[in-house]
Amino acid sequence: MTDIVVVSNRGPVSFRLEGGRPVPSAAGGGLAGTLRPLLAGSGTTWVAAMLGEGDRAAAAEGLMETDGIRVVPVDVEPAAYQMAYDVIANGTLWFAHHHLFDLARRPRFDWHWHEAWAGFRRYNREFANAVIEGAPEGATVLVQDYHLSLLGSMLADARPDLSTVHFLHTPFAEPDMLGVLPASASGELLGGLAGFGACGFHTEAWASCFRRAFEDPALAEAAGGTHAPRTFVAPLGPAPGALAASARDGATRAALKRLEEAVGGRRIVARVDRIELSKNLLRGFQAFEELLETRPRWRGEVVFVAFVYPSRESLAEYTGYRSEVEHAIERINERFGTAEWTPILYDPADDYPRSLAALVSYDVLLVNPVRDGMNMVAKEGALVNERDGVVVLSRRAGAWDELSGSALGVNPFDITGTAEALEVALLMRPEERRARAEGLSAAVRARTATDWLDDQLAAARR
Ligand code: G6P
Repeated sequence: MTDIVVVSNRGPVSFRLEGGRPVPSAAGGGLAGTLRPLLAGSGTTWVAAMLGEGDRAAAAEGLMETDGIRVVPVDVEPAAYQMAYDVIANGTLWFAHHHLFDLARRPRFDWHWHEAWAGFRRYNREFANAVIEGAPEGATVLVQDYHLSLLGSMLADARPDLSTVHFLHTPFAEPDMLGVLPASASGELLGGLAGFGACGFHTEAWASCFRRAFEDPALAEAAGGTHAPRTFVAPLGPAPGALAASARDGATRAALKRLEEAVGGRRIVARVDRIELSKNLLRGFQAFEELLETRPRWRGEVVFVAFVYPSRESLAEYTGYRSEVEHAIERINERFGTAEWTPILYDPADDYPRSLAALVSYDVLLVNPVRDGMNMVAKEGALVNERDGVVVLSRRAGAWDELSGSALGVNPFDITGTAEALEVALLMRPEERRARAEGLSAAVRARTATDWLDDQLAAARR
């Protein structure tokens, strides 16, 4: 594994300052959390951005080794980082790939935006330089996610000895949606990706969007007639052993006890998500409201446990969405709540043991994204749940491909349909719940995180 280089925006460890000293804190984000245990002790190099003063202090003290992974920190100048991460990666590419643009108003490609694109290019260039200088001869380079899409052509030009792969954890935009970007940007994006030896996706649907971009006349012209690179499909799954151990540990069991007390023996509909536009929280709460409104039997009987926590709050779209979500929760709780019963249990703390406790104890797990690369919550829930819980799953989540045999599918835009699915799940007979829960767990166990990593290595070496 010493000839493997992983490259991602967030690294496996990040530091905060305590009394002026750098102290490690678990890195946020699902990707780092999944890859880190797979690579522990392997001697792999991991190139990642420095995310603040804590990381800078740690790097200055040479503390960037963790679990036998050698971390190479990339120190992008803060203004360029902000433009790359906020404006382009999360404010533009994330929105394009998830089809989240509110097209009557946004996006607006003005000179500020073009300047931000130049910052994004600089950020990619800094990462490319770190790999170009540090990767051993003939190394395999696994680049993760949309932040680093431009790296392919940069690495191909300077280090043709490397085997490079890009793996995208989001969906890929339909050609029409990618065509919303200025031609200069879509062209540079496709050209950057085309420089990789292979590009990987969680499902065939996203791989197909990607290949079709190169066949679209306007996009192809913008990309200067570049051909699509090889593509491969490698769905990511949780590491079942590590997840089961966390679900059994003391912190999770203590959180479970507290949750059970709060719910008071009622049925549990749960969701665990970042407060994120693609996750479709608003329609999820509106569906629960419709359930309570049109089927009064459920009033006082069910608690919607919403352990959803803030994310990317430097973007106005996210803070605005958070306040819409909080208003919806307040309104529904005021409308239906009683002295004994709060319909929606909401707490925006990012508390992993408590999130896991919700997954262990749901009767129904609602996962209704408008578009989602994979969705690990659906898979983690299926593995750790102890109540034969039913998963109500958007057909637009990548996970639908593997879980459609045993989950209840919903159109994420259809609030009435989602309310119906919640009721079907709540009324399901125990034998059917058991059969579906077993089907879900078997489907998830069929693909582990190790398989996903192996597929990337195989794609690089082909
Ligand atoms: C998405 C991305 C992940 C990322 C996560 C958190 O799921 O695909 O790569 O870890 O969001 O995003 P953040 O912006 O907090 O790193």
